[in-house]
Amino acid sequence: MANPTPQPESLESGELLFLPQAPFALPTGDDHAFLLEQQPGGLRRKHICYDPTRDEVTGFVWQSWEQAERLRRILAEFSQAVTCWLKDSLPRYQRGITPDLATFRPEEAATRRARPHARNDLLHVDAFPGRPARGRRILRVFANIHPSEVRVWATSEPLSRLLHRYADRVRQSSAGWFHEWGARLTRLLRVNRPCPSDVFMLRLHDYLKSDFDFQQRGSRRLWRFPPGSVWLAMTDACSHADLRGQFALEHSFFISPEVLACPELAPAHLLRAG
Ligand SMILES: [Fe+2]
Repeated sequence: MANPTPQPESLESGELLFLPQAPFALPTGDDHAFLLEQQPGGLRRKHICYDPTRDEVTGFVWQSWEQAERLRRILAEFSQAVTCWLKDSLPRYQRGITPDLATFRPEEAATRRARPHARNDLLHVDAFPGRPARGRRILRVFANIHPSEVRVWATSEPLSRLLHRYADRVRQSSAGWFHEWGARLTRLLRVNRPCPSDVFMLRLHDYLKSDFDFQQRGSRRLWRFPPGSVWLAMTDACSHADLRGQFALEHSFFISPEVLACPELAPAHLLRAG
């Protein structure tokens, strides 16, 4: 099956795009085997993170300088390959794309232990607590690098419909109250300040994960991503849950509002309009 061409309008409206064959190079051979042996470590113990602006890897169990350097190189190559492909495939975004973090996810999604708001197997839209979007969109690219097992996701309604139903409930609830206080603190400290839509999206993220009705009875479409496949979505609008699978690579990007095809669908705009 041939890969479809990414369309900005579809992505911005919250649709997920599945690419049966990875359109960029993924780790192969010894590098692939080496990557699958790496363990998450450090404070977060969730994913191994590569920051392309610092060219630095964190969150892994350190064994030697040689191991750390090889891991950095593999994730740097992945980051460069995804970034180049995105700029070629979505030329509209070229002037407004900012690479965020790349991650390697070695744990089995179905059995990963996490507190409720950190559980990725519950339907949610994305917002990053420490990295405010400030009006930009969040575009994420995923690759299944398991040698033989599928990755299973569910997606549900897009943000525009979720806001119609849940925006007032979120505002009236205490969901994610600490995000409000965190935002006030960062405003006082004048560091990495989130805007009101960032705070709302963090609260919506927490609200959706704790809403029994949405989790149990909300519409959902199941996706099975085979080894070697890639999928991408603007996960601030595409509600999703990571249900099952091990060994995935992921790269997040911010897309500036000036280059969007449908700026009226951006969370910041939808929230102002609502
Ligand atoms: Fe997510």
